[in-house]
Amino acid sequence: MRVPGDKSISHRSIMFGALAVGESRITGLLEGEDVLATAAAMRAMGARVEREADGTWSVHGVGVGGLLEPTQPLEMGNSGTSTRLLMGLIASHRITAQFTGDASLSGRPMGRVITPLSQMGAVFDASEGGRLPLTMRGAYPAVPITYRLPVASAQVKSAVLLAGLNTPGITTVIEPVPTRDHSERMLTGFGAELEVEETGSDRIIRIRGEVDLKPQIVEVPGDPSSAAFFIVAALLTEGSDLTIENVGLNPTRAGLVQVLRDMGGNIEELNPRTIGGEPVADLRVRHSALTGIDVDPAIAPSMIDEFPVLFVAASLAKGTTTTSGLDELRVKESDRLSAMAAALTAAGARIEEREDGLVIEGTGGEPLRGTANSRTKTHLDHRIAMSMAVAGLASRDGVEVDDVSPIQTSFPNFMELLREAAG
Ligand code: S3P
Repeated sequence: MRVPGDKSISHRSIMFGALAVGESRITGLLEGEDVLATAAAMRAMGARVEREADGTWSVHGVGVGGLLEPTQPLEMGNSGTSTRLLMGLIASHRITAQFTGDASLSGRPMGRVITPLSQMGAVFDASEGGRLPLTMRGAYPAVPITYRLPVASAQVKSAVLLAGLNTPGITTVIEPVPTRDHSERMLTGFGAELEVEETGSDRIIRIRGEVDLKPQIVEVPGDPSSAAFFIVAALLTEGSDLTIENVGLNPTRAGLVQVLRDMGGNIEELNPRTIGGEPVADLRVRHSALTGIDVDPAIAPSMIDEFPVLFVAASLAKGTTTTSGLDELRVKESDRLSAMAAALTAAGARIEEREDGLVIEGTGGEPLRGTANSRTKTHLDHRIAMSMAVAGLASRDGVEVDDVSPIQTSFPNFMELLREAAG
C-alpha cells in the first residue's frame, strides 16, 4: 500500500512555491483539509495555486516580500501548522490579516509564535490567552532577532525563519532540542541563504532575509505519521505482512519505528533512497509480539504526532510501557494524553494518566474488550479517531468512534485503505 503525501512537506511546498518567482510544480501533495487551507490562504494573498487533472499542483509565486493583504479572514479550520507558519510569513509584510479556526484550533496557544514575532515588530490583537480568532499587522522592515526556542516546536522555529525570509539581515533560531527540519531542508532547496551550525546540544539556524526564492519541482514523500497507523495495525494483527511503499524517514520524524523495534516489532526498511532531499524507504511490517518499554523522552520530538497510536500498541504489549516528557501532547488538536487515556480505558486497556505521560499495562497480545456501548470521543482530533480505529482492529467487540470527519484534515482515504488492508 501507499499512504498520502507528508503533511508538513505539503504545507511548506505550497508556501515556499507561493513566495518564489515563477512556477513550482508539486507531485504527491497531500490533499487533506489542512493543506487545502494553506493553499486557499496563499491564493488569498496573491499566489496562483492550481491542481491539474493528473493531480500535479502548480504554484506561481509572488516573490519574497510580495504577499498581498487578504480581503477576507484566513479560515484555518483545524490546522495549527497553517496558522503558525502563515503568521510568520505575514509578520514581515506590511499587511493586516485575521485568522479564524474551528473549536479545536481556537483553543490552542498562539502565544508561542506571538512572542518572537512581536519582537520582530508585528502587532497582534488576539483572543483571551493568546488564541484565535486574532488579527495581526506585519511590519516592514521587520527587525531580525536571535530567538532561543522555549518549547521544542518545529512550528515556532519555522514561523521565525519564515518571518526572517523578508527581514533585512540575519534572523537566528537556536534549538536546544532538535525538531523536524523540513523547513531548513526545503528553504535551502528553494535557494534561501540558510545555514545550520551544531554546537554541543544546540542547533543554530541562521537565515539571511530579502533573498529571492527559486521555483522548484517538489516530489512529496509518503507521510510517516500516516504510515504509523498501518505499521501498528500490522504489528498487532495476526498473520499480517504489509509493505508500505515510499514512506518518508527523515530522522527527525522516524522515532516511532525505532521505539516499535525496541518493543520487538519486525519492521524492515527496503529500497532506501532520497526523494526531494528527504530519506525515503518501503517498510515491510510483520505481525510481532510486542514487549512494553520505558520510552526515552529524548526521542519524543521525532515521534510527537505518533504517541496516540503508540499508546494503542502499548495496550497490547506484554508488560508495562512508560512514557514521560510529553507535556506538548496536551496542546495538540486535543489534549492527547487525556483523550487517549479515556478512549483506551473505555476499550478495556489499563492506563494510568500522569501529568506528562501515560503508563500502560499491556494485555500481552490478548485483544482489548472494545467499547461496547460507549463511543470514543475524538475531540476534533484526526489522530485520536485513527488511533482508535486501529484499537478497534485489535479488539473483541470493536470500537465505535463518535466523529470520523476530522480524518479528512490529514488522511482522506484512511477508512478505505484500512478496510482494504484489513481484508
Ligand atoms: C509540525 C510540527 C509539530 C507537529 C505538527 C506539524 C510542522 O507541531 O505536531 O503536526 O509541520 O511543523 P509542533 O511544532 O507544535 O510540535
